[in-house]
Amino acid sequence: MNAPKEINGVPWIFEDAEAERVGWQNRIAAFENEIAAKISILDLELTRTPIRASTKKRLGLLRAAHVRQRETVRQLLKSFYPFDSKLYDVTLALRGKIPSSQGLVNYTSNVLRDWGPHANAENHQMIELLRPLLGERSFKRAFVPGSGAGRLPYDLHQTFPIRETMALDHNPFLSLFANEMAKGATLEWVDFPLSPSSLESAAAIEPCRAPEPARSGLRFALGSVLSIPANSSRDSPLPFRDFDLIITPWLIDVIPESFDRFATRMNALLESEGEWINFGPLGFSDANPSLRFSFDEIKEVLLESGFEILNSGERKNTPYLSSPHSSGSRRETLFWFHAKKVQSRAAPKAHERLPDWIKDSSLSVPALPKLKQIGETSLVFAEVCSLVDGRKSIRTIANEIALKYGMPPEAAELALKKYLSDQVATS
Ligand SMILES: C[S@@+](CC[C@H](N)C(=O)[O-])C[C@H]1O[C@@H](n2cnc3c(N)ncnc32)[C@H](O)[C@@H]1O
Repeated sequence: MNAPKEINGVPWIFEDAEAERVGWQNRIAAFENEIAAKISILDLELTRTPIRASTKKRLGLLRAAHVRQRETVRQLLKSFYPFDSKLYDVTLALRGKIPSSQGLVNYTSNVLRDWGPHANAENHQMIELLRPLLGERSFKRAFVPGSGAGRLPYDLHQTFPIRETMALDHNPFLSLFANEMAKGATLEWVDFPLSPSSLESAAAIEPCRAPEPARSGLRFALGSVLSIPANSSRDSPLPFRDFDLIITPWLIDVIPESFDRFATRMNALLESEGEWINFGPLGFSDANPSLRFSFDEIKEVLLESGFEILNSGERKNTPYLSSPHSSGSRRETLFWFHAKKVQSRAAPKAHERLPDWIKDSSLSVPALPKLKQIGETSLVFAEVCSLVDGRKSIRTIANEIALKYGMPPEAAELALKKYLSDQVATS
C-alpha cells in the first residue's frame, strides 16, 4: 500500500506515513462498525410496537444524525475507502504512533464550536486573549500544532498580519474538515448532547461554514507534532521550522509527551527570539505523577528550556464547548503563558510511543510486573469461567476457588459476585 503524500490537497507528513495511514484506516473502520451498530439498534427500536409518537420522533432524529455523520466522514475521507475488515492488521496498527484515546471522532464537538451556526462566542474569546499579546506586530511564519477543527489558526490568520500560518493535526477528519472550511465550503455536522435540552435536541444536524474563505497563506497539514524534526528540512516544500510564533491551544495536557520534553521541542521549532503562546487547562493524566505538571512547574520548565516568560495568567470560568442543544455546559480555567526563545535547545528525538521490544519482535519481552499481574488475574478468571457448567451456584464455585487458593469462602463468594455482576452489567 502506498502512503499518500497528500489527501484532498492537505499534505500528509507523518514520519512513518504508511503505518499511520493503516492506523487511521483502522480507526475509520472502527467508526464504521460502531455507527452501523448504532443505526441497527435504532432500526430495531423503531420497529417495536407499540411505540410512542414522541419516542419514534426522537429515535428518527438520532438515526438521521448518525447517517449524516457517516456521510460527512465518508465524503471527507473518501480516499481511505473502500477497505475490508481485514484491515484491523495488528502488526501495522501497532506500528502506528497514535494512541487509541485519539480516535476518529474524539474531538468532533470542536467542529460545531468552530464552524457551526453558534460558533462565534467561544472562538472570539480566544482572539481577544491573543490581541494584547500580539499587539500590532507582524509575523512571518506562525505554527498551530494540534489545530483540531481549525478555527483558531483561521481566526489568527484572518485577524493578525501573519504572512504564513501552518496548522498541523494528526486527525485526518479534523484537518480535512478545517481545510474545507478555509476554502469556503459548507459541510454538515452533528451534535449528540449528553444531556439534551429538549426532545428535538437529542440529535441536531447543523451546517458548518467559515465567515469567508481564508486569505492566502493559511495551510493545514496532517502529521504528528511529536515527530516533526525528522520530517522537515530547510529545503523541503513544507518546512516545519524557523517559526516566529507558535500557538498551542488545549494541547500540552493531551499529548503523550512530558511537558519538559515538549517545551524543548517547541524551542527547537522557533527561530531566535520566536514567541510561544499556550493556553488551555492542565488536565495531565500521565501515569507518572511527576509528569502531571502544575502551572508553577510549567513556568520553571519554560525557564529551564531556553525561554523567557513575557507574561502569564489564569482566565477563570471560560465557557468550553457550550451547545444550545445541551442543558449543561463546561467551564474551564485557562492557564496561559507568553514566552520568548532566548537560548537554543536541540530538538529531542521523535516521540516513540512503543518500546523497542514491541517494534523489534526479536528482542526479549521484559517481565513487567503489570504483565505478571494481568496473567495471574486472567488465570483466576479463566478458572472461574471454566467452573460455570449451568448447574453450580455461586456458593459452590466460590467454595472450590477458596479451597484451591486458600482464601476464606466468604471472601471468595463476595469477589465472585462482584466479578459476575460486572460481566452481566457490561454484556
Ligand atoms: C483538546 S484538542 C484541541 C484542539 C484545538 N487546539 C482546539 O483548541 O480546539 C487536542 C488536539 O490535538 C490533536 N493532537 C493530539 N496529539 C497530537 C499530535 N501528536 N500531533 C498533532 N496533533 C495532535 C488532536 O487530534 C486534537 O485535535
